[in-house]
Amino acid sequence: MNPADNTTPLVIAIDGPAAAGKGTLSRQIAETYGFQHLDTGLTYRAAAKALLDRGLPLNDEGIAEKMARDVELAGLDREILSAHAIGEAASKIAVMPAVRRALVEAQQAFSKRKPGTVLDGRDIGTVVCPDAPVKLYVTASPEVRARRRYDEIVGRGDAANFDEIFADVRKRDERDMGRADSPLKPAKDAHLLDTSEMGIEAAFQAAKAIIDAALKG
Ligand code: CDP
Repeated sequence: MNPADNTTPLVIAIDGPAAAGKGTLSRQIAETYGFQHLDTGLTYRAAAKALLDRGLPLNDEGIAEKMARDVELAGLDREILSAHAIGEAASKIAVMPAVRRALVEAQQAFSKRKPGTVLDGRDIGTVVCPDAPVKLYVTASPEVRARRRYDEIVGRGDAANFDEIFADVRKRDERDMGRADSPLKPAKDAHLLDTSEMGIEAAFQAAKAIIDAALKG
């Protein structure tokens, strides 16, 4: 497929666990290839925030679905949605099939935008865009991911406790990998990228090499 061929928007699917570095990597990739980018985690976070803001329960699928249907992709604000508590709430409502259906529909519509798109999340290569010609599964050890999340929070000037963050990362992995609907796992045809020993630039170069090879092939 030719990325310059506007009739067939090209999708780069990027999945992986919490704090694996998908976000930074996906933004860099989108910029490099001139593609539009959607961090699908923000869609789950926006639905969760709508519930939290209204004091609504996190365990009522009907109400959560309504919030999911009201999520506007244009209004997703990473700064506001990045709060740790919102991420925890997001992973709780992300187990609900009706919430997933609503958000996956919006994500699939986004994936058709021209000239191409980068979507990152947990189920892009397996469920949202199973036909994506390039799939990356970005991971790192739980210790490294907890350290990155810790540095990110402290870097923002907020207080953080490493042991708590480490425990949260493991809990989130269990929830994301253990749920019945769209569990986090690499697609069969995904390229695995373990960034435990890589900085941002090395991870980007490794991802770019994989994408360029896949686009040529
Ligand atoms: O940034 P972080 O890795 O903490 O999480 P995120 O990508 O913002 O996603 C927050 C939560 O939304 C995840 O823990 C998942 O439970 C859920 N999610 C999902 O189920 N499917 C996606 N495609 C993206 C996120």
